[in-house]
Amino acid sequence: MKKPPLVLQTTTLWDYPSQHYGGGMQGDKDYTGATPSYVIWNLLSRYTAPGDLVVDPMAGSGTTLDVARDLGRRAAVFDLAPSRPEIEKADARKIPFPSSQADFVFIDPPYSTHVVYSDEPGCIGRLPAQEPEYYTAMRDVVKEIARILRPGRYMGLYVCDSFKKGEPFAPIGLGLFSILCDFFTPIDVVAVVRRNKSLKRNHWHSAAIEGNYFLRGFNYLFIMQKSGSKTRKSGPPDPRDPAETARHLAARAVPKREGKP
Ligand SMILES: C[S@@+](CC[C@H](N)C(=O)[O-])C[C@H]1O[C@@H](n2cnc3c(N)ncnc32)[C@H](O)[C@@H]1O
Repeated sequence: MKKPPLVLQTTTLWDYPSQHYGGGMQGDKDYTGATPSYVIWNLLSRYTAPGDLVVDPMAGSGTTLDVARDLGRRAAVFDLAPSRPEIEKADARKIPFPSSQADFVFIDPPYSTHVVYSDEPGCIGRLPAQEPEYYTAMRDVVKEIARILRPGRYMGLYVCDSFKKGEPFAPIGLGLFSILCDFFTPIDVVAVVRRNKSLKRNHWHSAAIEGNYFLRGFNYLFIMQKSGSKTRKSGPPDPRDPAETARHLAARAVPKREGKP
């Protein structure tokens, strides 16, 4: 398959026909649960500048690290079960990273117990998302992200709701969004088209009709901002910062004239 060029997504429905962009690979194609690299590429292109420091506290196969390198960003990546030497072993609830120093944080957490990532006792992928323990653990992760992010900067959380036949539906996306809103300002909510191979299986679709349930067609991508202003005080507005752009335009607005023209 010839891949289309990698471009910035411009609507809130993101889609790209491949897990990896370009001729190579970002992360590991054999890693179950890896993030499509174009998602991270879009986030870093819009919300970071060359040289910025990007953190991924649940790095998995290292997709964030590879995309950051492609774009000339620095990266600090952690995981409870590191798959590569560049990934430092750490629990995302206690990231060995100083406060307010990350320019961007990306995270793609486990979605309930669908994938066995490791036998580490602290793995959040061992917690069913129908139980409050999953959300308690993820609240601690989100709190830690809020600690390490610089004021005024952005983070992205990528997640899918959980549905397993015979189990109650777990709306993980909205559950985590509500937690995120306790720590950050929402900037946008994006639906990322899932191109899971199993979605091509016809019998899955007939089973969904017979069982009267829906297969997961998209992942949520929540884009959030930490409150506080950036230290940069002069120069043109940062187009990635809607608040800064709005202030810039308001300062230059021509006052309305009174009366008839
Ligand atoms: C969906 S995968 C991340 C995929 C990654 N973005 C990639 O592209 O390869 C979730 C990751 O969370 C890690 N994890 C689970 N619980 C964790 C915890 N408490 N602290 C840090 N990492 C954790 C798992 O080991 C797994 O690698």
